[in-house]
Amino acid sequence: MKRTTLLGLALAASGFALAAPQAADIAKGKEIAETVCAACHGADGNTSIAMYPRLAAQHPAYTVQQTLAIKDGSRNTGAAVTMRPLVENLSEQDIANVAAYFATQLPKSGEANPKENPELGARIYRGGLAQKGLPACMSCHGPSGAGIPGNAKAQDGTVAYPRLAGQHTSYVVDQLNAYQSGRRTNAIMVDIAKRMTPEEMQAVGNFIQGLH
Ligand code: HEC
Ligand code: HEC
Repeated sequence: MKRTTLLGLALAASGFALAAPQAADIAKGKEIAETVCAACHGADGNTSIAMYPRLAAQHPAYTVQQTLAIKDGSRNTGAAVTMRPLVENLSEQDIANVAAYFATQLPKSGEANPKENPELGARIYRGGLAQKGLPACMSCHGPSGAGIPGNAKAQDGTVAYPRLAGQHTSYVVDQLNAYQSGRRTNAIMVDIAKRMTPEEMQAVGNFIQGLH
């Protein structure tokens, strides 16, 4: 044991590095965000165009995972195909850098439309609907929608519970529909979306847009 430790120390001291991922470089990530992502997501990740998700303050592990999934074509619902050619030439290090940059950006939130049943949305988000076995969104996405960062990949592929606060209603509803139909895969969210009616999706999406 002791020998291994000493060897490890010696290797570290000599600057020897295994093929471990490099730490993310936020400055390089900012450059990529401004040149590649800004047109759709906004340079600070706070786009107000409803079809493009907000990336500001998102957990980097989730941003990396989803960018890679869009790049390799495994996530191809909605307008994801329009993004694919733009990220095709980015390396994993580039993607880690840009994800780290967006994670440092201050999120701006939207507003819930008072005419679109925010009460039902709040009820679903905070308490779920026990009679249909629909869990509270809050239990994974957090009371203020900040999500829960992660770093180890769980068996079902979950790397983090994504931040939802301030996300555009129509984007949220699109994703719930994609999970419901199985076009976007994730065991947890597919099961949840299958329990929801279009009215419930719209109400919770509206609530999420105003959440902060
Ligand atoms: C041409 C427009 C466009 C550009 C440029 C673009 N994206 Fe996207 N991106 C999209 C669209 C559209 C979606 C939503 C796809 C869907 O409907 O599911 C998306 C989704 C994402 C998601 C998933 C977000 C989530 O909450 O699940 C991530 C992460 C992402 N983009 C990262 C990036 C990064 C990083 C860049 C720059 C390197 C980038 N995108 C450039 C259009 C774009
Ligand atoms: C048991 C944990 C859990 C619960 C409860 C939960 N979620 Fe999720 N949610 C996740 C995970 C994990 C993901 C990431 C899935 C993936 O990788 O595609 C996710 C992703 C999402 C996304 C996609 C986010 C994006 O940026 O594309 C939306 C929208 C969403 N959830 C909405 C909801 C709503 C609405 C509820 C409540 C009705 C809810 N979730 C309850 C775990 C949960």
